Amino acid sequence: MGVLDGKAVIVTGAGRGLGRAFALDAAQQGASVVVNDIDADGAEKVAAEIAESGGQALASAGSVADWDCAGELVARCLKEYGAVDGLVNNAGVLSLTPPWAETEDSLRRVVEVNLLGALFVGTHAVRAMIDQGSGSIVNITSSAQLGLATMGAYGATKGALASLTYSWSIDLRGYFVRVNAYAPVAATAMTDMSPVVPPDLPEPADNAGIVTYLLSDLSDEISGQVIQRRGNRLVVLAHPCLTEHGADADTWTVDAVVDGFDPVLREHREAVGYAIKRS
Ligand SMILES: NC(=O)c1ccc[n+]([C@@H]2O[C@H](COP(=O)([O-])OP(=O)(O)OC[C@H]3O[C@@H](n4cnc5c(N)ncnc54)[C@H](O)[C@@H]3O)[C@@H](O)[C@H]2O)c1
Repeated sequence: MGVLDGKAVIVTGAGRGLGRAFALDAAQQGASVVVNDIDADGAEKVAAEIAESGGQALASAGSVADWDCAGELVARCLKEYGAVDGLVNNAGVLSLTPPWAETEDSLRRVVEVNLLGALFVGTHAVRAMIDQGSGSIVNITSSAQLGLATMGAYGATKGALASLTYSWSIDLRGYFVRVNAYAPVAATAMTDMSPVVPPDLPEPADNAGIVTYLLSDLSDEISGQVIQRRGNRLVVLAHPCLTEHGADADTWTVDAVVDGFDPVLREHREAVGYAIKRS
C-alpha cells in the first residue's frame, strides 16, 4: 500500500532534478504520474524509468508558461487517469543577476516560467479539482523569497508563490482543495549554477517525502503552509503579518510621517534578508 494509491498527480519540470525525484516518489507511493517538462527527452526518460520500476506514468512535453499547453497538460491527466488529485508546480528557472544587469528578456523568462507557469497550470488544475471536490497543490518555492543578493527577480517569483499559496488556500478550502508550498534544498543543475552553494547539499530524492506527504491524505488538515528545508530540518515559514508597531495621525502629511517614523516605525524596522525569527 502506498500513500498515493489511486491518485493522479502532475509534476511540472520533472525531466530532471527535484521534479524527477518528486515524480519517482509519487509513483513509488502508488500515484499515476504525468511527467511534464519543456525538455521532451527528459520527460520521456523519467516516465520510462517509472514504468520500468512497475509504476504508472506518461510524459507530457511542453512549457508551463504557455496557457494552452498548461490546459492540455491538465486535460491529458484527466483523460488518461480520470482525475487530477495532485499538482506539483515545480518547473522553474534561476537567474543570478543584479538588478542593474536585468533585461526585458531575463525578467520575462523568470516571471513567465516560475510564476505564470504555476498560475497557468494551477488555474486549469483548480477547475478540475473543484469539480472533483478534492485536490492538493504543492508550489515549489525557495528561501530566495526571504531576500538574497542577485536573486531579486527569482526571489520575487518565489515570494509570489508563497502569497499564492496563502490566498488560494483561503479561496479553495470550501472545495476541499489544499494548497501548500515547499522550499527545497538539493544538488541539481540549478544549484550547480550558483557561486555560493553550501557543501554537502542533500540529494533531490531526500526532498521528496515532504512533497508526497503534502499530496497525500495524510496531510488532510494542512493547507496554506510554507515548509522550508534548512540543513536537515523542515521548518515552518512564518507568514508575513502586521506587527503591533504603528503610529496614528488624523492626516498623514510628511511632518506626521516624520513624527511617526521617529521613534516608533524606525525603531521597529525589520531585519532585511534571510533571517530566523526568534520568539
Ligand atoms: N535545487 C535547489 O536547491 C532549489 C532550492 C530552492 C528552490 N528550488 C526550486 O525547485 C524547482 C526545481 O529545481 P531544480 O533544482 O530541480 O532545477 P533543474 O534546473 O534541475 O530543474 C528544473 C526543470 O524545470 C524544467 N523547466 C524549465 N522551464 C520549464 C517550462 N517552461 N516548462 C516546463 N518545464 C520547465 C527544466 O527543463 C528542468 O527539467 C525549481 O522551481 C527551483 O526554483 C530548487
